[in-house]
Amino acid sequence: MKVLIAYLSYSGNTEEVAELIADNVRQHGIRPDMHEIGLDAPVDVRQYDYMFFGTFTWDKGSTPDEFKDFVLEIGYKPDNVAIFGTGDTQFGGDALFCRAVDKLAHFYNSRWSGLKIEQSPRGTQEASVKQWTEGVLADAIIFA
Ligand SMILES: Cc1cc2nc3c(=O)[nH]c(=O)nc-3n(C[C@H](O)[C@H](O)[C@H](O)COP(=O)(O)O)c2cc1C
Repeated sequence: MKVLIAYLSYSGNTEEVAELIADNVRQHGIRPDMHEIGLDAPVDVRQYDYMFFGTFTWDKGSTPDEFKDFVLEIGYKPDNVAIFGTGDTQFGGDALFCRAVDKLAHFYNSRWSGLKIEQSPRGTQEASVKQWTEGVLADAIIFA
């Protein structure tokens, strides 16, 4: 099974979530490909069975432009995408917290609810990342 983890991260929080997801995926004997949006060369997403896309939220609940460019670069809506992201409730409270995750999960009609992490996932939130990843992988493994 081929798995892609693509993420956008400025200050490292979303990258940390991506790495934790990758650790969990590896525990299932699957070697995920990592793609850092905006830095790595364009990736052909059609080769992947399952994909994890992650981003932080910006500017009053917005999806960052680099992530929008990535969406346009893909050019179609794959139906095998799980969305994760980080945010901070200090920027607009619950209404704007990780809004990009909600928007992208809706855009991709994701069959998994998005994973929202407040800032760094290290510590208590690490368990949430693991639990969410296991949920996605359970479906992936059943349907593989
Ligand atoms: C100018 C600015 C605006 C932000 N706006 C939001 C927001 O609307 N909603 C939210 O949940 N987080 C917001 N954040 C918080 C970031 O999404 C959060 O710090 C995130 O973990 C950064 O991810 P990164 O470390 O992967 O770059 C904002 C941060 C900055 C600096």
